[in-house]
Amino acid sequence: MSEAAPQTIYLADYTPYGFTIDSVDLHFDLKPHQTRVKSRIAFRPNPQAIDRTFFLHGENLTLIGATIDGAVVSPDVTPQGLTCDVPDAPFVWEAEVEIDPKGNTALEGLYMSNGMYCTQCEAEGFRKITYYPDRPDVMAVFTVTINGSHPVLLSNGNPTSVESNQAIWHDPWPKPSYLFALVAGDLVAHSDSFTTMSGRKVALNLYVRPGDEGKCAFGMEALKRSMKWDEDEYGREYDLDLFNIVAVDDFNMGAMENKGLNIFNSSAVLASPETSTDMNFERIEAIIAHEYFHNWTGNRITCRDWFQLCLKEGLTVFRDSQFTSDMRSAPVKRISDVIDLRARQFAEDQGPLAHPVRPESFQEINNFYTATVYEKGAEVIGMLKLLVGDKAYSDALDLYFDRHDGQACTIEDWLRVFEDTTGRDLTQFKRWYSQAGTPHLSVTEDWQHGTLTLKFRQHTPASAATPAPQPQVLPIAVGLIGQDGDEVEETRILEMTEAEQSFVFDDLGTRPIASVLRGFSAPVVLKQQLSDADRAHLLAYDTDPFNRWEQGRMLAFGSLLAMIREGTSPNPDWLAGVRSVISDESLDPAFRALVLGLPSQSDLARELADAGDTPDPDIIY
Ligand code: SER
Ligand code: ZN
Repeated sequence: MSEAAPQTIYLADYTPYGFTIDSVDLHFDLKPHQTRVKSRIAFRPNPQAIDRTFFLHGENLTLIGATIDGAVVSPDVTPQGLTCDVPDAPFVWEAEVEIDPKGNTALEGLYMSNGMYCTQCEAEGFRKITYYPDRPDVMAVFTVTINGSHPVLLSNGNPTSVESNQAIWHDPWPKPSYLFALVAGDLVAHSDSFTTMSGRKVALNLYVRPGDEGKCAFGMEALKRSMKWDEDEYGREYDLDLFNIVAVDDFNMGAMENKGLNIFNSSAVLASPETSTDMNFERIEAIIAHEYFHNWTGNRITCRDWFQLCLKEGLTVFRDSQFTSDMRSAPVKRISDVIDLRARQFAEDQGPLAHPVRPESFQEINNFYTATVYEKGAEVIGMLKLLVGDKAYSDALDLYFDRHDGQACTIEDWLRVFEDTTGRDLTQFKRWYSQAGTPHLSVTEDWQHGTLTLKFRQHTPASAATPAPQPQVLPIAVGLIGQDGDEVEETRILEMTEAEQSFVFDDLGTRPIASVLRGFSAPVVLKQQLSDADRAHLLAYDTDPFNRWEQGRMLAFGSLLAMIREGTSPNPDWLAGVRSVISDESLDPAFRALVLGLPSQSDLARELADAGDTPDPDIIY
């Protein structure tokens, strides 16, 4: 038998599912190779849908039997799912399937990791558990009964009955199947609690294997900080009686935001001062926050289809970056994010797999969990916030949560809350979601009689995904630093919409140095002709920490390339600038460490290769 040829799915072909679901009851009898799953699903015709074909996804399932309203049916079964004739009225579908968790080495659906059962359903794993409309726009209330011999039996929501060998869970919040989770294992809990802004006490548990109890404290504290931060900054309160996290050794992703039952790769949650580095702690805090924040941006408001993945991921990455900035150092977080964006997302944009933040077609959605969807998706939200301002951003988010709670949404819904809040037309801004490629932005200066004109040009290289890119809306944060080191113009957001555009600063005494693209206000490749002396001046005096670091990096780059090519000694401007930063005790040590850092060996090699030289690793080293 041959594999089915991969099918391309198009955003433009979206149609709503033919049925809505009133309730889902699942019943698991756990056995390593022969788990039985019974489902009872109450369907009703969807008045919004034209196509009433009753199709349920299902892969690697053995169908034991199925009924509709109690009468036995014989569906047409294919390797992708089944179809069946159904009444033109509400009906109850019941089915029993057998699955093989122990033989499931894809780690998608229900599988076993070291004797424990666990699940991963995003994006399309639920169809390996039972027959179901496994698409994010079908949201339902689930009740789950687990029969199994393990001491800990967990699913989403709140427990309604826990006995030995059986637990029943009810999740009152309608959710898509990709947020379903089940865990059964010999686990121990590190427990705590959090009292929400309205005074509800939420039980918190971090479940681990016996022996790992000592590695939970940091993760638990990070969870409580995340819960508090989401209340303070976004007004988002947790909505169940308990929140569980489980650490699993075999896990495809870093972690997963299943409703009320987050599942983490052990490496993304367990930490101890004896064995973990500062970077490990920071990463764990960020991932816990990320998954927790999904409770609102992803779970309460989910995606209509997988093309909208950036709706939940871009926003949630943006939110976790804000959180880390608040918990730690905002400049250090911004610089680290830009280093990562350039290394991973810019590279993606330059390669054959370049794709827009919201792709328009795919064959396999698992290939789109990319730096473009996640990190560039977050950059796009950062730009939107800069363009509309903090107050309008916050109002737009309030409207988003009010208007779309309980819905499966699109990027159009997301942008509309900003348009409705601000009265802006975001048609051109939407190109950030539809065009692949990193814009190249160049700036030249004209100085005449106290007036500085900055002339910008933007150009996005064509790619297979976007053969004819159009100009993007670019928020360009600019400030001016005087010759004496004082800031003569505070940060202004220049809004560039054309391919070429000039901005004028007047009433200036002596010629200042322009600090352009402060805070990396847009994800572009900037070309600004500055002398080494000007760069050293910005490194020493810029009020924008990102640009201080950036100018130091540019100086380091220039100096190292000259040293590699010509064997010269280090540029004294660079050394003097670095010396002034690292000896400034008022600056954060982590920031000073970043300024002291060098461009990577691969960055240097790439630059040499681009210029036609043959990079010599020994000399670079
Ligand atoms: N939805 C998961 C996450 O982003 C998958 O990686 O957290
Ligand atoms: Zn996520």
